[in-house]
Amino acid sequence: MRQLKQFFSNKEIANVLDVGTGSGNFLLVLKDIFPTAKITGVDPNNESLIDAAQTFRDVSFKRMSAEQLDFTNHSFNVVSISMALHHLTDVDLALNEMKRVVKPGGWIIINELFSDNLNEAQQVHRMVHHFGSRIDRIQGINHNQAFKKHEILQFVNEAGIEIQFHFEHKKEENKKLTSVEIEEKVVKMKKRLDTVKTHPDYEILKLQINEFREKAVVYGYQSATRIVIVGQVL
Ligand SMILES: C[S@@+](CC[C@H](N)C(=O)[O-])C[C@H]1O[C@@H](n2cnc3c(N)ncnc32)[C@H](O)[C@@H]1O
Repeated sequence: MRQLKQFFSNKEIANVLDVGTGSGNFLLVLKDIFPTAKITGVDPNNESLIDAAQTFRDVSFKRMSAEQLDFTNHSFNVVSISMALHHLTDVDLALNEMKRVVKPGGWIIINELFSDNLNEAQQVHRMVHHFGSRIDRIQGINHNQAFKKHEILQFVNEAGIEIQFHFEHKKEENKKLTSVEIEEKVVKMKKRLDTVKTHPDYEILKLQINEFREKAVVYGYQSATRIVIVGQVL
């Protein structure tokens, strides 16, 4: 991410913590921005951490939730969280933990999809995301719908993190899915739906699969826009 690389190019960053690192998508970005820093990734999901450790041999991994970071105060120059805010049980608590483990004058980076001001192809993506998050919640897994952009900024402001700058970015341009790709997604959605067969929302969720198919044909499919926020902890 050009803006991040430029901003941090004249800053001494020795160590970075990536919260909710999953299988490590954002580690690629962090390694590019901070090529010499020691990077640690944490996530409560052990399977993802095993995946990530196979890909990123030079990163340390620990199993941990954002709401309870097992590090002493002021441990890191930078703490990041990417695409995980809407997975948290308590966003305020997590941001306070991230603040606690950043060194004074250190930085917090947030990369998060948002659910408003989307084009029609992105609304198709949002529909699939909401479908998946509803099934996760039925299964007792914490997974909220994506937040609106102003809600994400509000979380950060209310946590007392000084926002230095923020920008939007899109992962890909509007992509027309082929009928085969649409059917592949439909098969995946049906498989997930099968796991909640006895739930009262089953029929509503089933209708959403048809709606996805119809709208994907007309509008295509594009990931929701993300906001990247860089904040400082004074
Ligand atoms: C969509 S993935 C994002 C992975 C990666 N950071 C990225 O940018 O692609 C969301 C991650 O949040 C993790 N997660 C869920 N609950 C969490 C929590 N309470 N604290 C930290 N991470 C959590 C999930 O295990 C999952 O790996």
